[in-house]
Amino acid sequence: MSVLAALLLVVVLLALLVVAASCRRFGTWRRKGIPHPRPLPLFGNCIDAVLLRTSFYEALDKIYRQFPGQPYIGFYGGSSPMLLVCGSEAVKDITVKDFHVFTDHKLSPDSRYDTLFSKFLFCLLGDQWKSIRARQTPAFSSGRLKAMFPTVKATADRLCEVIDKRLDKDGAVGINGLCSRYGIDVIAAVAFGIEARALDSDEPPPFMKAVSAAFRFGPLEALITLALLFSSPVYHVLRAPIIKEWRAVVLRGLLREATELREREPPRKDVFDTLLSLKKDGVPQVVFEAQVMSMQVAGSETSSTAVLAILWELALNQDCQDRLREELREAVAKQGAVTYELLHDAEYLDMVFKEAVRLWPVMPWLDRVASEDYVLPGTNAVIEKGTVIIIPIFSFHRDPERFDDPDTFKPERWAPENVAKIDKMSYLPFGNGPRACIGFRFANMSVKSAVASVVLKYRIGMAEGTPKSHAELELSPLSFIISPHKELPLRFERL
Ligand code: HEM
Repeated sequence: MSVLAALLLVVVLLALLVVAASCRRFGTWRRKGIPHPRPLPLFGNCIDAVLLRTSFYEALDKIYRQFPGQPYIGFYGGSSPMLLVCGSEAVKDITVKDFHVFTDHKLSPDSRYDTLFSKFLFCLLGDQWKSIRARQTPAFSSGRLKAMFPTVKATADRLCEVIDKRLDKDGAVGINGLCSRYGIDVIAAVAFGIEARALDSDEPPPFMKAVSAAFRFGPLEALITLALLFSSPVYHVLRAPIIKEWRAVVLRGLLREATELREREPPRKDVFDTLLSLKKDGVPQVVFEAQVMSMQVAGSETSSTAVLAILWELALNQDCQDRLREELREAVAKQGAVTYELLHDAEYLDMVFKEAVRLWPVMPWLDRVASEDYVLPGTNAVIEKGTVIIIPIFSFHRDPERFDDPDTFKPERWAPENVAKIDKMSYLPFGNGPRACIGFRFANMSVKSAVASVVLKYRIGMAEGTPKSHAELELSPLSFIISPHKELPLRFERL
């Protein structure tokens, strides 16, 4: 046999071994009696996501739709058995009753490759998470939110001024970039301690580049994230960070300046003050830095996508826009201005907000990992320690069994007389249980503040190139949050 033929034989044998190893655990769900789709070697049930042809949430949705009404659906992420938890009781058990078993996210990178991201609140594990989370929670009390409101309101007004400046001759402007800049400026002011001035600059400042790139994945980051989620050995072969070092360097430098400045100023009662108290309590510098960046990254792109979603839905649904404007005008006539209390009490604004994040759940799935063997309630099946659980939020929100006419924007479904019909575990835009979004109340205030300011100043309409339906809206396949792939133009007419 020639050397070449021998080499070829070795390669073929190695390839067969890898394929066989990837199928080794494919009997797991059959043995446990959990329904599951048939997996493919190497890819499991996620070939389209691994080849970056669709986003992960779309791959999950395809699996979800094959097994309607099942509380648990097994699938394989590459070669790893993973579980979709879909029944309402099961979701409650995992996120609340048995939270002690499912405290951690699987999306917690190895600190050797991702020094900073591994310390983000979202990624911290077990007792460390519990202690750091408890110390950050007071940042979002009603008193603190009220204290932060003037900053939020001033940024919302600034958003309107910038819309005005940037309108083209047809009164249109691409809204993604502006919403993104709004989200960055608001969170930078209250959580990072700096004036980012993203709304004021034509070119995105370095701070904005570093923050907004965090969730805008390229192919490599998307693959690393999937490899981490699927417990694939590829993760340790790549040994690469999800949040690249250059971003950390930019953010660290700015944070050092902000800290020095704030330490000379009186307290402002904002999120940054609370995070600084962690540092004063002796938390390691890298953990402090990670908490500030975690708030910035988790808070800005998510809230700005929600603002974008609402403005687009209002452009498509003029009757909803009229009703919202009427509610806001009446409230302003009574209270004299848009206040914290006005935003809190505006009923229709709240219905619009809830419906927009139902159709656009910015984080379209939740993950948890079992810290011990666990009997799935209502079955005899035991899942092993280390099994990854996914709760497919996007699929719940678009399931006709859970929401009538699920693809249509209908704020009325959240009216007080209708809301009781909605199953609480079917609506999870901010997650659930002790690990739910810590910034929910802040997001509520900052998103509503931007929407109220814009709706009171402009009639929002369709422009040339505005997608006319969800089917026409192109979402980014690489991003792990739901975000439009292209600039979304809207028309603004001054009132
Ligand atoms: C519309 C806006 C937002 C949405 C839809 C959203 C959604 C979520 C979701 C789904 C989670 C995971 C919850 C779970 O695992 O059960 C989460 C976690 C988190 N969010 Fe938000 N979020 C938003 C805004 C914000 C804001 C404004 C902040 C900060 C100011 C923030 C900070 C965080 C942090 C730090 C975590 C990790 C919490 C932990 O692991 O303890 N989010 N968010």
